[in-house]
Amino acid sequence: MARITASVYTSHVPAIGAALDLGKTQEPYWQPLFAGYEFSKRWMKENRPDVVFLVYNDHATAFSLDIIPTFAIGTAASYEPADEGWGPRPVPRVVGHPELAAHIAQSVIQDDFDLTIVNRMDVDHGLTVPLSLMCGQPDAWPCPVIPFAVNVVQYPVPSGRRCFHLGRAIRKAIESYDDDLKVQIWGTGGMSHQLQGPRAGLINAEWDKRFLDRLIEDPAGLADVPHIDYVREAGSEGIELVMWLIARGAMSDRAPRLRHRFYHVPASNTAVGHLILENT
Ligand code: DHB
Ligand code: FE
Repeated sequence: MARITASVYTSHVPAIGAALDLGKTQEPYWQPLFAGYEFSKRWMKENRPDVVFLVYNDHATAFSLDIIPTFAIGTAASYEPADEGWGPRPVPRVVGHPELAAHIAQSVIQDDFDLTIVNRMDVDHGLTVPLSLMCGQPDAWPCPVIPFAVNVVQYPVPSGRRCFHLGRAIRKAIESYDDDLKVQIWGTGGMSHQLQGPRAGLINAEWDKRFLDRLIEDPAGLADVPHIDYVREAGSEGIELVMWLIARGAMSDRAPRLRHRFYHVPASNTAVGHLILENT
């Protein structure tokens, strides 16, 4: 049987990708940020999964206002890094896992969550920056990745509660897959940030740290926080954090082992948060 070994949570700021790609990681502005991921890269090498189920959001790259899927699962054999206006990032193409993805789609849809099936798409910084932070700059990513895109860009967005319950359905789906695979689930995006309007630049470190505490210790309670609280307290783009609840919902009901916790401001306009939780 496949099983979820661990969950990883991290912000996805596009400027982090540019800093890596342009060799700026040791500059004074970036050094403290990348230092926070040194443990994570070692951990990733020592705990290499067979598949990463990567919950992220597309930023009007693969999708547009024409079609807005709330939850979309990638069932393709591979995904190209997208051109986001500066050319595609010089990172490896992402190899998928169509068999496991199709199995999860079958199970989760029969469990009453309506997913959009995506057989072809490009992937933007929402997916490639977390991979770079966790895996560095390899010639090929260490394992197949199943992209799972959540609409947190165009209203209406899904609630934290629905994301948390969806995570539980994903856990059940993975645990009913016949192959003996070790699967990690990653929740990405956040933390507090607002990129537009009079409050552009908003950061709320106190709220972010409380979110990290509760994600570890009280995820079911945290799942009840309504979307308007994210927007008020963590800024319009802070709503990306509901994606972390999908990954947390997929973890065992037993208390997880906290392997790593990191928080850093600033990175571009965004507060960067990062956790590694292992199933016990
Ligand atoms: C920034 C953060 C994001 O989450 C994003 O998608 C784009 C830009 C930023 O901080 O600049
Ligand atoms: Fe974003």
